[in-house]
Amino acid sequence: MKMSGHSKKSLPMWILAAVILIGSAIREATAQVTTVFSPDSIIQVSFKLVDGQPFYNITRFNRELINDSRLGFVLKEKPERFSGFTVASTGQNTFDETWTQVWGEKKDIRNHYNELTIRLAGTSSPSGRLDIVFRVYDDGVGFRYEIPEQSGLGAFEIMDELTEFNLAGDHKAWWQKAYQWNRYEYLYRATPVSQIDTVHTPLTMETADGLFLSIHEAALNDYTSMTLERRGEYKLKANLIPWSDGVKVKTRAPMKTPWRTLQIAQNAGELITSYLILNLNEPNKLADVSWIRPGKYVGIWWEMHLGKSTWGSGPTHGATTANAKRYIDFAAKHGIGGVLVEGWNLGWDNDWIKYGDRFKFTKPYPDFNIGEVTRYAASKGVALIGHNETGGAVLNYERQLEDAFKFYNKYGVHAVKTGYVNYGRGIKRIDENGREQGEYHHGQFTIRHYQKVVETAAKSKIMIDAHEPIKDTGIRRTYPNMMTREGSRGQEYNAWSEDGGNPPEHETILPFTRLLGGPMDYTPGIFGLLYKERPNNRVNTTLAKQLALYVVLYSPLNMAADLPENYEANPAPFKFIEDVPVDWEDTRVLHGRIGDYVTIARKDRNSQDWYLGSITDENGRALETPLYFLDRGKTYIAEIYRDGDRADWKTNPYEIKIEQRKVDQSSVLLLRLAPGGGQAIRFMAL
Ligand code: NOJ
Repeated sequence: MKMSGHSKKSLPMWILAAVILIGSAIREATAQVTTVFSPDSIIQVSFKLVDGQPFYNITRFNRELINDSRLGFVLKEKPERFSGFTVASTGQNTFDETWTQVWGEKKDIRNHYNELTIRLAGTSSPSGRLDIVFRVYDDGVGFRYEIPEQSGLGAFEIMDELTEFNLAGDHKAWWQKAYQWNRYEYLYRATPVSQIDTVHTPLTMETADGLFLSIHEAALNDYTSMTLERRGEYKLKANLIPWSDGVKVKTRAPMKTPWRTLQIAQNAGELITSYLILNLNEPNKLADVSWIRPGKYVGIWWEMHLGKSTWGSGPTHGATTANAKRYIDFAAKHGIGGVLVEGWNLGWDNDWIKYGDRFKFTKPYPDFNIGEVTRYAASKGVALIGHNETGGAVLNYERQLEDAFKFYNKYGVHAVKTGYVNYGRGIKRIDENGREQGEYHHGQFTIRHYQKVVETAAKSKIMIDAHEPIKDTGIRRTYPNMMTREGSRGQEYNAWSEDGGNPPEHETILPFTRLLGGPMDYTPGIFGLLYKERPNNRVNTTLAKQLALYVVLYSPLNMAADLPENYEANPAPFKFIEDVPVDWEDTRVLHGRIGDYVTIARKDRNSQDWYLGSITDENGRALETPLYFLDRGKTYIAEIYRDGDRADWKTNPYEIKIEQRKVDQSSVLLLRLAPGGGQAIRFMAL
């Protein structure tokens, strides 16, 4: 729904957003200051040149959020090209449009910003040209560099990006260290910014006066990822993930970088309902989206993680025709549309991480008859979800990519989970001299690969669920077949990790950090919280919290991750998983303290029903919850799935109470959450 388009309206704030010319000499200390405000006039971004170098700062209600921070690049050849700048021209614009998501956590999203473009010209010969575009929203700021076509600059290499975020205080930050062996799969740490080193984004922070900030990026494509390195007490600088040869970005003019983003919120929940990252991505490029269908799935998956069956061939091979049919029967009986089958194709035997090149994406193991399985599934209204684990051997996958998707098409498969299990610089690249090089998952080489997979998949009408992915920067807006991804410690850590799995606070941090980038395939819904196969591991939540995760952790493809027998044994709580949708009209965050608790309500996109999920860390809580979000004048039956009175994640995780109440917009619920617990509610409109 387009309400209004690109316009050059003269809004009153533009009177405020004046261009203040302080001086014109190139080498003056402050040559020019140009200012732009958010539509509500609260956030202000100022740009200036200092000794020919670009700087910006950000204030909110005239208080500094980002002090003067450097912008720019170091190029490999002719580094002087991007120095000694003058402002050639500036441009301002305002934009206000409401667009509709193909699927998502909110149907209609308003994209309303004021834009300032600074066109810089260098004094070197030939003169370098660099444009910097700022978009200022009520909920934050995005800016990017555009390098226009210019004489003497064809293909070039970026050795460093100089972007800084010179924070105005030593904020509390939730972070994960960058350049680690296991990509993004670590627990978050919370410390003052002055104690971080080099960290991944989103980097979420709480200021002393109660604001919430998150630095990330949007529209990361054919560039490399930005991590943040601390320089000085709390000044952060872009630290770009390098190629194996040390170059950060290999590119050519004209080009545009990803957007550098700062989300600004008055409470933690507003970070979750900020759609700034999506707004900074290009609109949908796919003409036909009728085949893109969010949905739930079960799969031959958890049994492997528990060690009950294997990905590779042998007596306990999981992906057999008979086992797949068992899951299909279960899915059909419970109205679940998808069945994921992992370990169906050749390549899993021996060390598949080391020998990823051996994966064959069109060759099933002999005990898996894909024709029979997909025919059987179709006859029951269920679809197979494909699986392409690459072991990080992306070239092997690229060689087979089109065939792999054609193969899946032939069998009516429209969703594929991909995997890139490998560590450190474990992505194999063959360089110009035929030598093997190791690249990072988050470097430009691999980012190009992930993008190629999404675009090739779109041509074959295939949705992607990427594990060991590049971080989400909102490209699902442009390619809505890029459904969901992992990119943090998921549920699987509760099956086998040696550090005891995900502690109860983990899921109360994810919505404010990892999920600000986009949906996560966390794989909730484990009912067998303790398992005899793995006495040293367990799920560190109550049963009710597993249900609440379906609302709290958004994913358009969402798994009912446990074994069918565990669901069959617990039909009453399983009803919530059967009912809960995956595509939402709207999202409201009712409570949120990062690392402590969070309550989210979402309205179903295909009915009048609302759903609520509330989760806590290791502390029990009682959260007063007015139901003001419910539609006015409507009465609802609230189907409540709550922790039992003596429930406790550690000592009594299974106790759950399911009860019903009549409620409306004026009702107030007291959500009692056990330690490590949660509550899930379906509000059924009468
Ligand atoms: C890691 C993924 O996160 C997991 O879901 C998958 O089962 C294994 N890799 C094997 O591909």
